[in-house]
Amino acid sequence: MILEKLKEKENKIIELRRILHQYPEIAHKEYETQKIILEYLENIGIEGKKVAGTGVIATIEGKNRGKTVALRADMDALAIREENDVSYKSKNDGFMHACGHDNHMSMIYGAALVLNEMKDKLNGNIRIIFQPAEEEGTLGGAKPMIEQGAIENVDYILGMHVWPDLPEGVLGLRSGPFFAAADNIIIEILGKGGHGAKPDQAVDPIMVSSKVIDSLHTISGREIDPLEPFVITIGSIHGGTSHNIIPDKVEMMGTVRTMDKKTREIMENKLNRIISGITSAFNANYKFKYIYGYPILVNDPWVTDFVRNIASGILGNENVVIAKQTMGGEDFAYYLEKVPGTFMVLGTYNEKLGFTNNVHTSRFNVNEKILAIGSTIFVESALALLNYSWTKNNPS
Ligand code: NI
Repeated sequence: MILEKLKEKENKIIELRRILHQYPEIAHKEYETQKIILEYLENIGIEGKKVAGTGVIATIEGKNRGKTVALRADMDALAIREENDVSYKSKNDGFMHACGHDNHMSMIYGAALVLNEMKDKLNGNIRIIFQPAEEEGTLGGAKPMIEQGAIENVDYILGMHVWPDLPEGVLGLRSGPFFAAADNIIIEILGKGGHGAKPDQAVDPIMVSSKVIDSLHTISGREIDPLEPFVITIGSIHGGTSHNIIPDKVEMMGTVRTMDKKTREIMENKLNRIISGITSAFNANYKFKYIYGYPILVNDPWVTDFVRNIASGILGNENVVIAKQTMGGEDFAYYLEKVPGTFMVLGTYNEKLGFTNNVHTSRFNVNEKILAIGSTIFVESALALLNYSWTKNNPS
């Protein structure tokens, strides 16, 4: 019934999605996006509040007292030039909703639309969260949103990401650790410059860097259990100006991904020990910085199973799967540190219609039919959570 209701409202949801898609804005700069969201909410009788700079929260107060379920969407886009040939192509040249957050916002809007119409029957409240800067990595939007009251009085929280790794319309759920902790590292290898033909009189930081990189890549399996998910990537290396000059230093940047809290905690020391050992062996010095980013995203098993049952009823058992862990990061993790909930992924891969490109690419797009499905999962799960708590707390 909710699905039918949402299909009737599909046009409105798609309309919003296409507007948002045309005006992508990057982390912490979602001013236009915030304005559009506030307007759309206002038009359906929901008063939104600006939070954490460019974020928006709103509360739909149900007639009956009960629990509060939060639904969260992220708002930011990426610095990618869109190459999709669509009528609603990005008008902010060089920027694109290449991670699909336009879809997330529209799904939550669709859910709010339906839930608000039902508020006279709701056994509790719905908190709507539009969060900026998910893509930021370290200074993400979730933390300031939480600090400024986004999940105050919230009992459960739900979030979703569009997911080209799964077939269109298939929902992926996972209990426990799902997205990795995403930390950044900066390494400087300090040598002694010299003539390229006389390396014996210099300390070559480029050669030392190569040994450091090599050694860091042996951590999985040598320093930690090979069965444990772990990624280290050096994504940037800079040093030198010419083919025959040994430079003074090399700068590297990288990312470290872990799926286990204890492993994450020992990583900074482990890396430091390896870098220190290698550099000292070659008479070089170093500077090392470990920057903690998003924590591990851990879904609550009870809420995840609860949503699995609801989703199976809507989509059929065959369309609800256990999602594979990903070494990607997601700042929804911060909410889950405070409130039980689950972060889901909704498949978008559709070879027939050409929706095959991955997120963070210039041709990523989805079949907009999934929007009503996403909204439905949010509405049905939220209603069931409110009603479950209601019957438990108010036995009659
Ligand atoms: Ni994303």
